[in-house]
Amino acid sequence: MISEKPVPVSELATFKTFSGTPLPLVIEAKPEKANVSREELLHWIAANRQEFETKLQKHGAILFRGFKSLTGAEDFEAVMKVVSHTLLDYAGGTTPRSAVSGKIVSSTDAPAQMTIGLHQEMSYLEPSASFPDPTPDKVAFFCEIEPGGAGQTPICDMRVVLERLPKDLIERFESKGLILTRQLPFTKEAGHEVTWPTMFGTSDKKEAEAFAEKRGWRIEWTDDGGVRVYQKPSPTTKSHRVTGEKIWFNQAHLLHKEYAPWKGDFLGTTPEQIDEANRRRPELSKRFFYHSTHADGSEIMVSDLETIRQTIDKTMTMFDWKAGDLLICDNKLVSHGRQPYSPPRKILAALAADDRG
Ligand SMILES: [Fe+2]
Repeated sequence: MISEKPVPVSELATFKTFSGTPLPLVIEAKPEKANVSREELLHWIAANRQEFETKLQKHGAILFRGFKSLTGAEDFEAVMKVVSHTLLDYAGGTTPRSAVSGKIVSSTDAPAQMTIGLHQEMSYLEPSASFPDPTPDKVAFFCEIEPGGAGQTPICDMRVVLERLPKDLIERFESKGLILTRQLPFTKEAGHEVTWPTMFGTSDKKEAEAFAEKRGWRIEWTDDGGVRVYQKPSPTTKSHRVTGEKIWFNQAHLLHKEYAPWKGDFLGTTPEQIDEANRRRPELSKRFFYHSTHADGSEIMVSDLETIRQTIDKTMTMFDWKAGDLLICDNKLVSHGRQPYSPPRKILAALAADDRG
């Protein structure tokens, strides 16, 4: 148990933003405090937990930088346990990942050349009686090894996106709702694929069926060993649990046949790989796809999806990772993505739920 004896928040760090970007709030170690022990750092975070929480809800994301005692997965997990108490498993997700240590996972195992569009983690999950608020409250990232080049994690304030989207588009989404269908293979044939054993966290069909039933999903096993998952209607917008602010909150702009499997370079960027992607797309896009429709089954206008993608592109910001950086996003307020990168790059991720009540 970390002591919460008062330590002023100004004791170890200064607060600023990167010039010209409102996101994230940068909480940077004072030069003379960069070498504080991990224990001292955890104590300081615990003592100022509420203040960090308030700043997180105001800014949407906070970046701890320059604390040299943070070097790996264990340090990351220790900080997150102080910040949030409840760390979550990743089952139910849409990106390939691998476990690292405890509840810490790789941020994504998707191939380096791929751009991952911005999204709030698991915002496609539908509320139900057993999961009234099924999306993680926080998603956090830790930079263990800086990218060789690029590989930023862009972030975007989805309160601002909502303000900037055309009113008639918002009205179409809110009145017609959304439903996600996924087709997942049993084994992986290309780097971007997510298998159903990964998504369900088991390769046992009975256990997968039980997982789906708990979520209220209808599933059909397909002849090639894959599965089709039909979800229930999921949110389009949402009000923040604490601040009450309204947020654009869905992933239709990514989880759609028009975009996933991804266009162009999803097998690589060389001319040969692009040729191969073109040749294999019909076959690959049958074994693995995501598709969002409106809740009545009608197709979403692709022009609406393009408007959403462009609005997010114009609103997002990004910074270059430094080893030891720890970024915490309020997963309702802020979306995140990933830029293509040159190896190496090791970014870890964690999901957390806030204490209720
Ligand atoms: Fe993500």
